[in-house]
Amino acid sequence: MRLFATLCLIFSAAALTACSTQSDAPEANGEPIVSPILTSDDAKDPYSYAQPEIARVTHVALDLALDFENRNVGGTATLDIMAADGADTVILDTMALEISSVTDDAGNALPFELGAAKDGMGAPLAITMGDKRQVVITYTSGPDAKALQWLVPAQTAGGEHPYLLSQGQPTLNRTWIPTQDSPGIRQTWEAKITAPDPLTVVMSGLSGGDPVDTGEGRRTFSFAMDKPVAPYLIAIAAGDIVFQELGPRSGVWTEPVMLDRAAAELADTEKMIDAAEELYGEYRWGRYDMIVLPPSFPYGGMENPVMTFLTPTFIAGDRSLTGLIAHELAHSWSGNLVTNANWADSWLNEGTTSYFENRIIEKLYGEKRASQERALNFAAMEDTIAEEGAANAITALHLTGENAAPEGGTSGVIYDKGATFLHTVESIVGREKFDVWLESWFDRHAFEPATSAMFLADMRDNLVKGDEGLEARLMLDEWVYKPGLPSNALRPDPAAFAEVDKAAEAYASSRTLDEAVWGKWTSAERLRLLSKLPRDLSDEELAKLDNDLGLSASGNNEILFAWLELALQNRYEPAVPLAEKFLGTVGRRKFVSPLFEALMEQGTWGQPIARRIYAKTRSGYHAVTTGTVDEVLSGGG
Ligand code: BES
Ligand code: ZN
Repeated sequence: MRLFATLCLIFSAAALTACSTQSDAPEANGEPIVSPILTSDDAKDPYSYAQPEIARVTHVALDLALDFENRNVGGTATLDIMAADGADTVILDTMALEISSVTDDAGNALPFELGAAKDGMGAPLAITMGDKRQVVITYTSGPDAKALQWLVPAQTAGGEHPYLLSQGQPTLNRTWIPTQDSPGIRQTWEAKITAPDPLTVVMSGLSGGDPVDTGEGRRTFSFAMDKPVAPYLIAIAAGDIVFQELGPRSGVWTEPVMLDRAAAELADTEKMIDAAEELYGEYRWGRYDMIVLPPSFPYGGMENPVMTFLTPTFIAGDRSLTGLIAHELAHSWSGNLVTNANWADSWLNEGTTSYFENRIIEKLYGEKRASQERALNFAAMEDTIAEEGAANAITALHLTGENAAPEGGTSGVIYDKGATFLHTVESIVGREKFDVWLESWFDRHAFEPATSAMFLADMRDNLVKGDEGLEARLMLDEWVYKPGLPSNALRPDPAAFAEVDKAAEAYASSRTLDEAVWGKWTSAERLRLLSKLPRDLSDEELAKLDNDLGLSASGNNEILFAWLELALQNRYEPAVPLAEKFLGTVGRRKFVSPLFEALMEQGTWGQPIARRIYAKTRSGYHAVTTGTVDEVLSGGG
C-alpha cells in the first residue's frame, strides 16, 4: 500500500484512477489510507505554498501546551513526509508562527527558511530534510493567531473559567499548526494537549481516554484521527465543559449550565445520523459528538470530524433551527469524506451539503418543513443574485479569479444555488436514480479531494450515461460554470408560504396582522413574514409589530436578528439597547456583520451608534468576525 500510494503521488492522471479504486476499501487490510493528490490545473490550490507532488505531509503529531496567560499554544509538531525520489525539501504553510527549531526524528537540526509573508496566506516554511522523512518543528503560535479565540471567563456561560476555541476553515489553521494547509492534501493526525486543571480539552479526533495528570495543576489529553482529513478540519476547544450522551454514537459537550438546554435541542441527533445513513450510506467516522460553544463562535456551525462545533444561538427551545445540525452532519459525507480540492470549488462542500441537509430535514420532520426551508433559502439566493447581478461571476458555483479566494464564496450563493442545482437534477432524473448516484459518488471518492470537473464527469459517466436528451435537459455546465440561475431551475412550491405571503400582502395594505395566526406559525413562516414586510416602517408601526408579535422577546435568534435588522434599517431608536446587548454577546458573523451594516447605512444616525458599540464589542469577537466587521465600519466614511 505504501509503495502503491507513492506511485499514486508521483504519477498523476493514469495512476490516480487506480488510486481511487484502491481507496474504496482502505482499511480492509489494516493499512492506513493514503489519499491521492490531484495534479490537474483546476485542482491546484493557489492559497497554499505546498508542493505536494514533490513532498507532502501524510501525518501530523502535535504535542502542545495551552498557555491562557500568554494566549498561545506551544510545543512540537512532528510531520511524516512522503516525497518523490531525490526530493530533499518540504514546504509548509505557516502564519505568524514563532519557530525555534526544526530537527529530524533523532534530534539533529535541519536547515529551514521562513519566506516572506503574503497577506492572507502567511509565509512558506521550507525545510531541507535531505533523505529524512520525518521533521520535528518546535514552535509557538503568534499573539494574534487567527484560528484561535481566547475567551475571558466573562465571555462564558459559567463566568468562572477561561475558554479556547479554534476555527480552521478555510486557511486559518496555519496560525497554530505548521503543516500543508490545503484542502487537497489529506493528513492523519494525533495530538497531546496539556491544559490547566480543571479545563477539559476536546478535538476533532477520537479521544484517547481520561487525561493524564502531568503535575503543576496541568492535565494532558490525547486524541487521534486515523483517517486522512483536510487540515482545515483539525480543531480544538478547551473550557469548563461536560458531556452528555445523546445516543449510542452521539453526545454533546458544553458548559455545565448549558447542558440541559443543549441536550434537549439536540435530542434528534441520533435519528439524524440514521436518516443520513439511509440516504447516502454508512457514517464512516465512528462517533458523532458536538460541542455547543460560547456565543462568540464566529459561525453557526463547523463540521469538524467527530466533533461538530456549534454556536449556542441555534438553541430556540423547539428544535426549529436544527437544520444546522443536519447541515454539519451532512458534511461528514460532502466535505469531510469527499472534499473540495481547493476553495474555488467550495460549492462541492457547501452546496452538496445544503442539498443533503434538506433531505435529512424532510426525512425527519416531513416535506412541509423541508419545502419551507427550501423556499426560504431560494428567495434569499434570488435576492443575492439580484444584488450581485445575474451576470456577475460571483454567482457561479465554480469560482474564478478573486472570487476563488478562500473567503470568496461566502456570499451564500454557493450554498443555495448548489442545493438548487442538485434538487433540479434530482427532479429531472428521478429521486431513486439520483440517490443511488450521489451515494456512489461519495463511495468512489471517499477520503479524496474532488473538483467540479470530476463531479460533472462522474455524473455524466454514471447518471447521464450518454443520454443526449437528458444531457440537454440538465444544463450541467451552465449550472456549474455560468453566473445567474439556469432556466431549468426547480423553483420552490408557491404553496409553501401561501398563507404567510397573503398575510404579508394584507399587512402592506392595511398595516394589520393577526397575532393569533403568527402564534401558530413555524419558525420558517415567521422568518418569511419578516422578510416580506415593507422595508420602510414608522416608529409606531414597528412598536406595534414588536408589541403584537413579541419580537424583542423572541427566544429564536434568527427571528430576533431579522427583527433587529429591520428595526435598525428604520432608525428605530427603542431597538438600539437590545441590538447593543445582542452584539455584546453574540459573535456569529452572519448576525453581527449585517447589523453593523444596517447601522452604517443609516448615515449620521447609525454610524456613531455603530462606532460606539463596536468599540466595546470588538475585543470579544473572533478574528473571522472582526475581519469582516472592520471593513464594514471603515467603509462608512
Ligand atoms: N463549513 C461551514 C462554515 C465555513 C464555511 C467556515 C466557509 C469557513 C469558511 C459550515 O458548515 C457552515 O456552512 N455553517 C453555516 C451553517 C448553515 C448554512 C446551516 C453557518 O455557520 O451559518
Ligand atoms: Zn457548511
